[in-house]
Amino acid sequence: MGKEEVIDSYEGNYNIAADLPVREDFTWKTIESHFSWSDTGKVNMVYESVDRHVADGYGEKIALHYFGEAEEYTLTYRELKEKSDLWATVLKNKGVKKGDFVFVFLEKHPDCHIAMLAAIKLGAIVGPLFEAFMEDAVKERIADCEGTYLIASPELIKRVPREELPSLQTVWITGEPEQCNGDEISLYAEARATQAEEGITEWVDLNHGLNIHYTSGSTGRPKGIIHAHRAMIQQYITGRWVLDLKDDDVYWCTAHPGWVTGTVYGVFAPLLNRATIVIHGGRFDADEWYSVLEKAGVTVWYSAPTAYRMLMAKGDEKLTNYDLSKIRHILSVGEPLNPEVIRWGIKTLSRRIHDTWWMTETGAQLIVNLPTERIVPGSMGKPFPGVEAVILDEAGKELLPGKVGHLALKANWPAIMREVWKDPAKYETYFPFEGWYVSGDLATMDENGYIFFQGRSDDMINSSGERIGPFEVESKLMEHPAVAEVGVIGKPDAVRGEIVKAFIVLKSGYETSEALLQELRQFVRKGLAAHASPKEIEFMEELPKTPISGKILRRELKAKELEKVGV
Ligand code: PRX
Repeated sequence: MGKEEVIDSYEGNYNIAADLPVREDFTWKTIESHFSWSDTGKVNMVYESVDRHVADGYGEKIALHYFGEAEEYTLTYRELKEKSDLWATVLKNKGVKKGDFVFVFLEKHPDCHIAMLAAIKLGAIVGPLFEAFMEDAVKERIADCEGTYLIASPELIKRVPREELPSLQTVWITGEPEQCNGDEISLYAEARATQAEEGITEWVDLNHGLNIHYTSGSTGRPKGIIHAHRAMIQQYITGRWVLDLKDDDVYWCTAHPGWVTGTVYGVFAPLLNRATIVIHGGRFDADEWYSVLEKAGVTVWYSAPTAYRMLMAKGDEKLTNYDLSKIRHILSVGEPLNPEVIRWGIKTLSRRIHDTWWMTETGAQLIVNLPTERIVPGSMGKPFPGVEAVILDEAGKELLPGKVGHLALKANWPAIMREVWKDPAKYETYFPFEGWYVSGDLATMDENGYIFFQGRSDDMINSSGERIGPFEVESKLMEHPAVAEVGVIGKPDAVRGEIVKAFIVLKSGYETSEALLQELRQFVRKGLAAHASPKEIEFMEELPKTPISGKILRRELKAKELEKVGV
């Protein structure tokens, strides 16, 4: 291996340094003493995230600071407790109880946080849905859980095909009665007419279901990954040591709670650490983002490489129009963080960008760059204390430094998924070698334990940090009358990491045309979600297939594409 570039840590009062004795004696068990349940035995994520801070005298501290298009407001921890108590009472009055699924289909907005907290207070399993999901994506997820309860905004309810979801009994709208149709219930009106029930929190055991996130793999439909309340142990301590959250921090995680990052590090970890969370509605816009960072006085910022690359592409002059001097800690997740981006962060913001690696299934960060340690640009960092990572060959044998293999982790961390919903066989596939979770990522490790991402071992696509299953996109395209055969791959892209590319064989009688291209793109965009829509489509006479089973060879399509772009 050649000589690695390293970037030393900056001076600072980092939590992990202050907690040195805990770190040295680290076991997950040592972290448990932080939680009130270690004394009382009463477990609930929301109690530890919100109610306990009020009980501890921090009720007037700002929990949420919302920056919307038309309004800006804050909620204190006390207000968040009261609102989540009230909404929990509203849900309970309609029958929501321990173990039920409650889907939440809301924009990035405090209502989304309150709805999630209210459901979890009751011991329900919350299913936050990404705001850009269209009908098929919404239907598939709710139907898979035979979901009975949904909280949606007046805008997003339009994308819920109620007639195709017979299980759905109760739908609350975050709006007024005049914004409701049919049997939909105005959550706002109900809340006004309801008195919050004292002591509404349901106590659960640590292994009780907390949330469900659907995630894509290379084959089959998206799978529901269920996490348990025990995840809070790791979510709290990674929030403390990796995000370095302190009492006076203003923290912005740019992900929507429909993705695991938005739930774990946008809701739970910062609240468990009593930070102030910034919520900003809408998608990416460079000026808006800089202006939110400045206006909110963000101190800790967690985003994704694509967003940093898009900011970088807008030029450094834009950035100099804003006072971003409060930012003291920056982190990244979801896709490979290029060394250029780290150098850009240092040049323009005088801050290192700390990469973190984890997955929906892992429930919290596992490989990280701690603020006190050196960064090796191009590496995802090192295992978090208590986490053991190895690189394995096909037979499960540990590989030497520098050799590419399967990134695997000793399956003993508290946030690991509890189950794959209705698919125990799929759950087993993550553990092909006794005791090891095999991630599906290929990586190398250097002599110092730094881990370098090398790609996926399967066909999963990662575009802008969003995980897309080729099978889902292929299935959608196959529904179009013009499509005879289709293969979908991720094509390397300088900004988005990968883009979705579809290779299509048309049915006879259909001609290739720009109009058809547009139509096919729209078909996926409208049915599934914008991020899954193929940015590129290539029409072909035939697709490469396996000789006997006739399965489409995505790998061959990808290899051709890589050759074209010279990778
Ligand atoms: O391939 C890895 C990539 O994202 C996958 C997990 O996606 P998802 O479940 O949607 O979770 C995303 C955020 C928690 C991984 O298998 N990935 C995640 N973080 C990184 C990454 N690839 C490279 N570098 C990272 N830091």
